[in-house]
Amino acid sequence: MAVIWDEKYSVGIAEIDEQHKQFVWIMDKLSKAITDLKPKEVLGQIFNDLDRYVSYHFSTEENYFKKFHYQGAGEHIEEHEKFIERLTEVKDKYSRDEMRLSLELISILSDWLVNHVHDMDRKYVDCFHEHGLY
Ligand SMILES: [Fe+2]
Ligand SMILES: [Fe+2]
Repeated sequence: MAVIWDEKYSVGIAEIDEQHKQFVWIMDKLSKAITDLKPKEVLGQIFNDLDRYVSYHFSTEENYFKKFHYQGAGEHIEEHEKFIERLTEVKDKYSRDEMRLSLELISILSDWLVNHVHDMDRKYVDCFHEHGLY
């Protein structure tokens, strides 16, 4: 199953779209590694990439929230935190071998792509545009 970027996920802000494309790219790598039954080390590495990506991307968005005094910052940051919690949970289970890493993780990530990137991130676009960020 290939995970492919779709223009419908574009929020119309170049820097953010670039970062969201990276997320799709990591998802694709992960889904391939899972279907190809890659060893644990390979998956561990992709998890690290995902971690690095997530903290980098969330801080990009949250820095703009601060800079632009974005009204919806509170609930948005809460969603970011919940997502990090979910990821940590899955990773912990995986490292304790209680759960085989599976396409279930991909479904958590796809869910994020559809519900957060497509809906939640879209809400800050007007505010960012008003401050000249395109
Ligand atoms: Fe985002
Ligand atoms: Fe976000």
